[in-house]
Amino acid sequence: MTDPRLAQAWHDVARRARSSGEAEIEAMLRGEPDRAQRLSLDAAGLHLDLTRHRLPGDALDALLALAEAASIVQRRDAMYAGAPVNFTEGRPALHVALRAPRPDGAANGAGADVAVEVAETLEQMSRFSEAVRDGAWRGATGRPISDVVHVGIGGSHLGPQLACEALAEYAHPRLHCRFLSNVDPHAFDRAVRELEPSTTLAIVASKSWHTLETARNAQALRRWFADGGIAGDALARHLVGVTANVDAAVAFGIAPGSIFPFRDWVGGRYSLWSAIGLPAMLSIGPANFRAMLAGAHAMDRHFSEAPLASNAPVLLALVSLWNTLALPGSTEVVVPYSDALRSLTAWLQQLQMESNGKRVGRDGAQVAWPTAPVVWGGPGTDVQHSFFQALHQGTGVHPVDFIVVVPSHRDPEGRGDALLANALAQREALLRGRSGDEAGEAADRDGRAWLAAHRACPGNRPSSLVLLDRLDPARFGALLALYEHKTATLGWLWDIDSFDQWGVELGKLLAGDIEPLLDPGRELPAELAPDLRALLARIRAARADRG
Ligand code: F6P
Repeated sequence: MTDPRLAQAWHDVARRARSSGEAEIEAMLRGEPDRAQRLSLDAAGLHLDLTRHRLPGDALDALLALAEAASIVQRRDAMYAGAPVNFTEGRPALHVALRAPRPDGAANGAGADVAVEVAETLEQMSRFSEAVRDGAWRGATGRPISDVVHVGIGGSHLGPQLACEALAEYAHPRLHCRFLSNVDPHAFDRAVRELEPSTTLAIVASKSWHTLETARNAQALRRWFADGGIAGDALARHLVGVTANVDAAVAFGIAPGSIFPFRDWVGGRYSLWSAIGLPAMLSIGPANFRAMLAGAHAMDRHFSEAPLASNAPVLLALVSLWNTLALPGSTEVVVPYSDALRSLTAWLQQLQMESNGKRVGRDGAQVAWPTAPVVWGGPGTDVQHSFFQALHQGTGVHPVDFIVVVPSHRDPEGRGDALLANALAQREALLRGRSGDEAGEAADRDGRAWLAAHRACPGNRPSSLVLLDRLDPARFGALLALYEHKTATLGWLWDIDSFDQWGVELGKLLAGDIEPLLDPGRELPAELAPDLRALLARIRAARADRG
């Protein structure tokens, strides 16, 4: 790190983090009069509360100084302006342009061409979605479409599936969306089970059009349609493509008019807002899809306009950075208290870990700090009955993001209220814990004093809260954009490239080498590592046994 101001800022943050790991959250909540004002805020329809972290107020000042020294403002502005922020691939990362209304200053630094292309694709998607939704678009035998099978993986799957689930309340009653990502043939069987080819629309979504899983599944789908009597020209009524590699999609057999294009400046994990979001638009309709874009855009504006000290994605990133330093080895737990957001964790895993799971900075040297904590989690209250035990009493401390949606109405059985009460209660339990004395009294009453130590909970366990008054398209869009900008901010703080993913290449290459060796007629090469050779021999024998 050559910039002395930046080096000093890192040094300050790291020094404070080392000495603040045990900071008492409750004491800070009581003792810092401006804590709530500094660490909770409303942005783009979301309420964010970051007060419950082991982060003393003066350390927040040091983190903000680090953000300044790391030129977060300049880097953010460069991203919005279409600079090649994906520096290893020499590309912009212009997802903000996908949700910028025209004309708008916030992302039109990217240029008029980008805005025109974005608008054209949105129009193409809208026309198609309207036609499928109102039944004007018919299958080859004249029947309207009732089922959509979306084939894609990673960023070409997780965002669309999450959006369809999250906004299921807005779904078209006739259209049912299914998602096929895994190359496991059983996944394919499940995806098409009980479907009728003549009323099914398949979307093959792949930015590169080279991804093995999607390519094989697309071939299998083409065969499935052919077996159902739909082939040749008829296929154009049932198979559409979404890609940045239009030529390859045409070569595969997708009719040029049935291809929804996007550009390589849309990163896979940032692509829900592009044509990759087609199943979501089919499901919730163009107006709701545009409302989702508008919500994300509201967060884009907040991110680009709010000062660093009151900027929701920046604060979320700074708190995350702090936890990696103050709580070495900690992970990030995400618990949406909303069944509709059950796939949020999977989307966040790709977003944060594929973006920032890097160990080398812009200068090619090893990054001095731990990057990208492991992200995991699941929906509340389910996970209270699985891993929450470890969060309350385990030896590790893992900050939790509670994503809480205010239930829409009070149902007769009080289920919505129970969900909400549990979210709030778990936050309280993590914070307050249960002292040995308190646990001891309860144990005494039972006549089992020895249980006190087992019942005690240490408390002082950090958490964030993101509160949504309701889960509508706009708030959903804002929620995802909040985390996208958090992720980018962290990448800039670590000076890594959040928009490439070189680490996934090696495994793909090796799979290409290994797959032919599964063929029993093929001799195993002599240079194969002995353990791999033995494993392949064993697998071949297992297959031979099963005939
Ligand atoms: O393998 C990782 C990855 O490249 C992701 O970044 C991407 O979202 C996914 O594969 C799918 O890629 P594609 O859309 O090109 O099929």
